[in-house]
Amino acid sequence: MMEDKRWKGVYSFEDSPFIMEILTELRDKDTDSISFRKGLVKLGRYMGYELTKTMEVEKIKVETPLEETEGVVAKDRKNVVIITVLRAAIPLMEGLIKVFENARVGIISASRGKAPEFEIEMKYVKVPQIKPEDTLIIADPMIATGSTLTKVLEEVKKYGKPKRVIILGVLAAPEGIERIKKENPEVEIFVTKVDRELNKKGYILPGLGDAGDRAFGAPVKVSTLPQMHTIE
Ligand code: URA
Repeated sequence: MMEDKRWKGVYSFEDSPFIMEILTELRDKDTDSISFRKGLVKLGRYMGYELTKTMEVEKIKVETPLEETEGVVAKDRKNVVIITVLRAAIPLMEGLIKVFENARVGIISASRGKAPEFEIEMKYVKVPQIKPEDTLIIADPMIATGSTLTKVLEEVKKYGKPKRVIILGVLAAPEGIERIKKENPEVEIFVTKVDRELNKKGYILPGLGDAGDRAFGAPVKVSTLPQMHTIE
């Protein structure tokens, strides 16, 4: 894990061949949905494990069958709230929860409209109370324009003030990081890599395409559903 020289509190995993290998598989256009979802679960698990290295630990005494020795409790690991931003964050959350098994989980659906406005519509919000000892992890695979996450951050503030706010994703565009950091400088961002740029449609380049579509299949518009929209 390494801090990006451009921003304080933005970390990537370019120094981890294992995580880069998973990213490479996710980028590959020939990777099917099953492997794509499995890749996201793996990233949730391994990035979550790496996150524990940044958490506070407490030294404790432990009795082995033979004698007393020193042990540790990673106490922040027990106080975690994971916010799952629908839809592509579901497999990421599945991996994260393997590491943070006590986590309380919130779900937010936030859909981004078309370019150039990228208007955000938030339709479903179920978030547990956030306590001062909590580490809040917002899982969203693609930090693109940053507008969804800015809105999600604004929303979760209503549920309490945590010890740390972390955004955990697969890829970020510099534009999205700038946007989030401008309004929320305290937020820490963990991604496998910061990619080059956004295209005009708001996709990250080189990226991996639409993470939700690749994990779950592209939705079809059904005319009988009046407010059908794509969730990112
Ligand atoms: N959301 C995605 O799924 N992919 C992108 O490249 C940008 C936003």
